[in-house]
Amino acid sequence: MTQPNWRSAAWFDNPDNIDMTALYLERYLNYGLSMEELRSGKPIIGIAQTGSDLSPCNRHHLVLAERVRDGIRQAGGVPFEFPVHPIQETGKRPTAGLDRNLAYLGLVEVLYGYPLDGVVLTIGCDKTTPACLMAAATVNLPAIALSVGPMLNGWYKGQRTGSGSIVWAAREMLTRGEIDHDGFVRMVAASAPSTGYCNTMGTAGTMNALAETLGMSLPGCAAIPAPHRDRQEMAWRTGLRIVDMVREDLKPSDIMTRAAFLNAIRVTSAIGGSTNAPIHLMAIARHMGVDLDITDWQTHGHQVPLLVNMQPAGAYLGEDFYRAGGVPAVVSQLIAAGLIDEAAMTANGRTIGQNCRGVPTEDADVIRPFAAPLVDQAGFIVLRGNLFDSAVMKTSVISPEFRARYLSNPDDPDAFEGPVVVFDGPEDYHARIDDPASGITQNTLLVMRGAGPIGYPGAAEVVNMRPPAHLLREGVSHLPCIGDGRQSGTSGSPSILNASPEAAAAGGLALLHSGDRVRIDLRRGTADVLIDDAELAARRAALAQAGGYRYPASQTPWQAIQRAHVGQLGQGAILEGAEAFQRIAQT
Ligand code: FES
Ligand code: MG
Repeated sequence: MTQPNWRSAAWFDNPDNIDMTALYLERYLNYGLSMEELRSGKPIIGIAQTGSDLSPCNRHHLVLAERVRDGIRQAGGVPFEFPVHPIQETGKRPTAGLDRNLAYLGLVEVLYGYPLDGVVLTIGCDKTTPACLMAAATVNLPAIALSVGPMLNGWYKGQRTGSGSIVWAAREMLTRGEIDHDGFVRMVAASAPSTGYCNTMGTAGTMNALAETLGMSLPGCAAIPAPHRDRQEMAWRTGLRIVDMVREDLKPSDIMTRAAFLNAIRVTSAIGGSTNAPIHLMAIARHMGVDLDITDWQTHGHQVPLLVNMQPAGAYLGEDFYRAGGVPAVVSQLIAAGLIDEAAMTANGRTIGQNCRGVPTEDADVIRPFAAPLVDQAGFIVLRGNLFDSAVMKTSVISPEFRARYLSNPDDPDAFEGPVVVFDGPEDYHARIDDPASGITQNTLLVMRGAGPIGYPGAAEVVNMRPPAHLLREGVSHLPCIGDGRQSGTSGSPSILNASPEAAAAGGLALLHSGDRVRIDLRRGTADVLIDDAELAARRAALAQAGGYRYPASQTPWQAIQRAHVGQLGQGAILEGAEAFQRIAQT
């Protein structure tokens, strides 16, 4: 029979190299396939498995993969499941951020080096989504993402308790003496009642929603809770669909265009998405060869209102978001407001406009009408100044208390300034935050440095610092925080973070001394230390003479390798140089 010219035929059906073909066939038959299956012209479909006992957020993919296989076989493909390097957000030391680029590298090698014609990417926990999409972008094989889905809603004493977000609330209650250690642990555990990823709109919820918005998942894929029957069906439909994507040769480069990324930026604002989204979308775009800049977030995202009423910016959780209509309902509202490029192609072979136009919202308190949002102009502000070239602030979580304290000067309503107290990494912060000698008052701006991709390899989620216990007891629940690290997407803190370049890359934060005054102007988009250029230059010279900003030694080979190659958060923190390898499945 005539065989389609699948990529996998170069391994299994290559008349020009019958020696190698025999070798490849001989060992892959061990897996229980017949010679006929491997040489029948059926496309070989990878299932990139991110779930394992080490990755509980994605572990349900071990179950869902069975339904993916069913779909692949039914559509006439042959499934090959293989492991992806685990990335458990809450389990990996020193930080899961270190492993995104490692999982990316590993997956690129697998997708390029093995006989695969297409791949199902099993996404979920924070970094698993960008790692998979980055690799799919580099290799540019037909690829579709299957979300594992969020956990069921958490409840504690009759209140919705969102995973991650409850940790920040509970640690403040513990500091104020309102709960003991046991209560702290029980509150946090109550937030995670089932399999699945964080039920808040944290980084996982955000990135799964953005994978769908980019067009890399089937419509409606992101929001279905992990234990639901519908999630199993979505797994089966995803398996069915990837086989046709291979036949149609529908590749990431057809889907992840600049239009798709701008749609994703706008959806990030509408869902109250994580401050990790700019980092990860930038990384995916750079590997895809799509032109995207950190300033695109402010240009295209800032004016978009917050529609989705989910923790940490709002009240509800994942089950509610699903019942209200999920991503298609949000996109539908943005389409009606003229904020979506409807022509962007998606994995099902239809455009995002065809998929989402007119999709109704089923609960207007969970997904607010565009005309009655939770917050107007809810996107990120991008700041710059003499401390860094870029940093991001999530405006949708600026609380009334924060606004009253810092943004209420009638002559200067968008600016605030104060003396800083500087911490060098999370250990320094934990050691000194409650020490009276630190001199922190309600006018202090807290600065976290040494927490970027080089300083704390992978960039720690530590910029959202709680005030010292004495201020918490006085009712001050947030101080402005600035830093070169990241913060958890489940945090409701309006920190100024992802500062690039970081202190460890000779960024301006390295020059700060505790007691310096820093001024933030949100309207002008600036963050500056109020000392003159001559003094800054003198400090810079002194720091260089002392050997530069000091950070802890690498503990593993990968930490050292990543530190030598990683770029800054404002540019996606990818391995610089890796973006030179584009669309390599075609090479
Ligand atoms: Fe894995 Fe939140 S910790 S999704
Ligand atoms: Mg996180």
